Amino acid sequence: MYKLSSAPLVTSQQIDKRLDTLASEIKAADFDVILSVLTGSYIFTADLSRKIADTELEIAFIKASSYGDSTESKGTVKISGLEKLDIKGKRILLIDDILDTGNTMKALVETLLKLEPASIKTCVLLNKESRRVVDCHADFVGFEIEDKFVVGYGLDYASKYRTLPEIWTLEEV
Ligand code: IMP
Ligand code: MG
Repeated sequence: MYKLSSAPLVTSQQIDKRLDTLASEIKAADFDVILSVLTGSYIFTADLSRKIADTELEIAFIKASSYGDSTESKGTVKISGLEKLDIKGKRILLIDDILDTGNTMKALVETLLKLEPASIKTCVLLNKESRRVVDCHADFVGFEIEDKFVVGYGLDYASKYRTLPEIWTLEEV
């Protein structure tokens, strides 16, 4: 059994403020396509992209799953939605919710490079640096966090908790 921590780890106001900075850095880096990884980054992508507000910027989605219904990564990554993706020659910003072991991001970047984009940079809302097991980094990071399982603002546990506006720690009871 799990329950939410007594207070949010990151509040809506903190997220909003951090996204202002991230959005201006990303705007200056001039990407052609934001490629967002479903489902966890849907809220982050919506909020961030509205702050970038660039008429030329395309938005596309792919889906990656590795977790099943546990809080531990299985290490195998299933990627879908690649069939219709047109990223050849384009400057891509890949957006995911959280960089944990790095398995997902590494698999995504390796797979996407085969589609011959001009470049790929990566952006995550949250980074758990201490959890990394593969060589993988994000070019843009919202918040560095400790090794705690978090939910809310798009992040789930067993498909629940995504709609919370803040980021919360999930505690075992
Ligand atoms: P990685 O492959 O271990 O880096 O895990 C990345 C994916 O696992 C993310 O896209 C999330 O979907 C999920 N994940 C990792 N840590 C958490 C967490 O603390 N809360 C919710 N999902 C997580
Ligand atoms: Mg995910």
